[in-house]
Amino acid sequence: MAEKSSVVALLLAAGSGVRLKSPVPKAFVQLRGATLLQRSAKTLAESPSIDQIVVALPPDLTADHPLRASLPSGVTAVAGGPTRSQSVASALAAAAHSEVVLVHDAARPLLSVALVEAVLQALRLGDVDGAIAAVPLTDTLKLAAAAQDGGPPPPQSLPLVAATIPREGLFAVQTPQAFLRRALARALAQPPEVLAQATDDASLIEGIGGRVVLVPSFAGNIKITTEEDLKLASALLCALQRD
Ligand code: CTP
Ligand code: MG
Repeated sequence: MAEKSSVVALLLAAGSGVRLKSPVPKAFVQLRGATLLQRSAKTLAESPSIDQIVVALPPDLTADHPLRASLPSGVTAVAGGPTRSQSVASALAAAAHSEVVLVHDAARPLLSVALVEAVLQALRLGDVDGAIAAVPLTDTLKLAAAAQDGGPPPPQSLPLVAATIPREGLFAVQTPQAFLRRALARALAQPPEVLAQATDDASLIEGIGGRVVLVPSFAGNIKITTEEDLKLASALLCALQRD
């Protein structure tokens, strides 16, 4: 009998949240009665394809730290690293055997079970190394000039526009991102300076020639970066009547 294909979710919560300026690490910030980490973990746990959740935590969150009490039950906790990629590598090292892994930022607490299953389904069906949540860009994009253009100085030293970038074919990328485990492991074996620059895992796989597909997501799957994002997430939860 064929073995049920298992998926391990790597949940990244080891960042400190410098831009949010909160007294606790960002993943432990409250959003309508639950932490960002609890919300992300709950959705992953409710996704039928996910068998294990490995959470990368800030390295200084030692076993006796009071914040540990708020960790969702059933998750495997590991110490993350100084960069996002190092946190992914630490979580991957602690993951049970699985052909597929799903990476998610705890900073995106509004993900849905449907989105998790959609990226996993795209990976299963396609002959690809990765399948990632993405939304087509809707704003017009401008490139700011690196230096003055020789004309009169702009008001308040505001940046001048150097060019308008056609947005056709451009996507904003989110997590969750699903990968063949062997592809992710190969991507993470690149030199530290390459890993340190990466803001997502798909780019590391693309960098070694891997094939990645874009899976339609929803704009409400926002990343909490600033205080304004927390307010927006709270309003979205309210409007969508999600608890
Ligand atoms: N992350 C991580 N390990 C790191 C850095 C980031 O696990 N060394 C995780 C964060 O916890 C977050 C996700 O990667 O869930 C995306 O990172 P980001 O939004 O930049 O979060 P922070 O690094 O915490 O925020 P900031 O950059 O403002 O400090
Ligand atoms: Mg960061």
